[in-house]
Amino acid sequence: MVSASAPGKIILFGEHAVVYGRPAIAAPVSQLRATATVTPGTAGVQLVAPDLDRVQWLDAAPEDDALAAALRRLQQALALDALPPMVVTVRSAIPIASGLGSGAAITAAIIRAVTAYLQPAFPLTPAWVSALTYEVEKLYHGTPSGIDNTVVAFEQPVYFVRRQPRNQIEPFGVARPLRLLVADTGRRSQTRDVVLDVRRQWQADGARFEALFDGCGQLAAAARAAIEQGDVARVGQLMDANHALLVRMSVSSPELDRLVGAARAAGALGAKLSGAGRGGNMLALVSAEGETAVGQALRAAGATHVLTTVLGHNQLS
Ligand code: PMV
Repeated sequence: MVSASAPGKIILFGEHAVVYGRPAIAAPVSQLRATATVTPGTAGVQLVAPDLDRVQWLDAAPEDDALAAALRRLQQALALDALPPMVVTVRSAIPIASGLGSGAAITAAIIRAVTAYLQPAFPLTPAWVSALTYEVEKLYHGTPSGIDNTVVAFEQPVYFVRRQPRNQIEPFGVARPLRLLVADTGRRSQTRDVVLDVRRQWQADGARFEALFDGCGQLAAAARAAIEQGDVARVGQLMDANHALLVRMSVSSPELDRLVGAARAAGALGAKLSGAGRGGNMLALVSAEGETAVGQALRAAGATHVLTTVLGHNQLS
């Protein structure tokens, strides 16, 4: 038996604009993980997702099934004529369709576990896992920027710019820990649909959207500097500014705006939606003293889950 896992992720700055080549910042959420376990099978390849109540034979899975796609792409990448009989079981603590990168994490976990099972000596580098995960992400997203697969495969905060022929991926230092509450609106939202809608709006009003994307990119660059300098208050202001731009792109929602407003009123240093928007999760930057009050305010405003993640807590600086 072989198991492997991958974390969820949050986007701190620059979602949507990152699809159009502007910089963005994302970080792993290590306590939320997807895990894949491989055991020998008797006939064929079986995909089991107990959380989804799903058992599927690979041979019978449709072309656009993302779990099956992960195995099919992996088979190609390893240049195998066939996969041996095995059972691949996938579990995930990352809520789906909520901006936390569950799709990328599940794919990366499958790629890691199945590769380790089939070819224990294969060098499973983060770059290789990321590239293969990206291929499968295209099924979930249509035009993914590549930031999700990068963060889940490298499992560290990154400053990311989508580029040809090679993305710019820069891990960076966190001078003072950032304490973030991740609060779920409880409303699911499909990244693919929201990304498509932004594309339609961009096609209809290019100048306006290019300016909004530029604004997001500038905020991401400024945020990286603030994070590297340990200017936590400034990071909060930049989060507020990023949320305002996302509202103008029409990717917020009444639920997200309510949580953002409640967090700020309860003393958060900054708050914004995270990920594709129109549902899913938001982030509130808090001090250690302010955490309880902001968490309570988020729940009172309708958050279905609130978790804390600390960026940079394991760095000495
Ligand atoms: O909703 P999520 O967690 O999949 O994040 C999507 C981030 C976008 O910038 C909206 C899309 C992308 O591919 O980067």
